[in-house]
Amino acid sequence: MSKYADLRIEYKKAMLEETTVKSDPLAQFDQWFNEAVAAEIPEPNAFTLATVGENGTPSARVLLLKGVDHGGFVFYTNYTSDKAKDIKQFPVGSMVFLWLGLERQVRISGPISKVSREESEAYFHSRPRESQIGAWVSPQSKIIESRDVLEQNLVEANERFKDVDVIPLPDFWGGYRLVPVEIEFWQGRPSRLHDRILYSEHENGGWRIDRLAP
Ligand SMILES: Cc1cc2nc3c(=O)[nH]c(=O)nc-3n(C[C@H](O)[C@H](O)[C@H](O)COP(=O)(O)O)c2cc1C
Repeated sequence: MSKYADLRIEYKKAMLEETTVKSDPLAQFDQWFNEAVAAEIPEPNAFTLATVGENGTPSARVLLLKGVDHGGFVFYTNYTSDKAKDIKQFPVGSMVFLWLGLERQVRISGPISKVSREESEAYFHSRPRESQIGAWVSPQSKIIESRDVLEQNLVEANERFKDVDVIPLPDFWGGYRLVPVEIEFWQGRPSRLHDRILYSEHENGGWRIDRLAP
């Protein structure tokens, strides 16, 4: 067999039961996230976001989760990036967290909208000064001639902001919040008989909990 097909591990670290999961998926996420942090999973807030672009073309990339509030999952990016264009056209997305060290995956899907300017301001100014300047420097997702473009932009931005105490939030930068309509928690189990617990939003605002076949 190939070097890919020969790789095989049995998942046996834990189990997940529909009778013992929390009734609120955000509370369940919080518990699993805390366990991922405690297990020292690298970048436990990293997730893959899939979006839909022109002609239904899917696109996915890794981002960092920066908050869970107002019933949703918050991340920050450039509002002129390719993902932002996708979200403008089709304001929906699907997030996947993979915490392999715990044999766990979480899938989250739902509508995406921009966070308020105030929220973006607050987060932007909590970042290190170099990261704030970095946001000004990169025309995210655009083709650039060489790395020199970034270096040159950085020199110009450092000059522009050298006497500025508070770096302004660029108009083209900020947060999005994905508010889940479905969240699935996946726990690896032996013999590929994994546990999958799906929360689906009820019309009345509560959550229905089902087990899915692996
Ligand atoms: C671990 C990791 C974390 C990342 N975090 C972010 C992030 O929080 N925001 C962001 O805009 N890009 C982040 N990126 C870069 C994105 O994956 C992507 O390259 C960028 O956002 C452009 O995506 P787009 O062209 O689809 O818009 C991260 C990449 C990695 C590997």
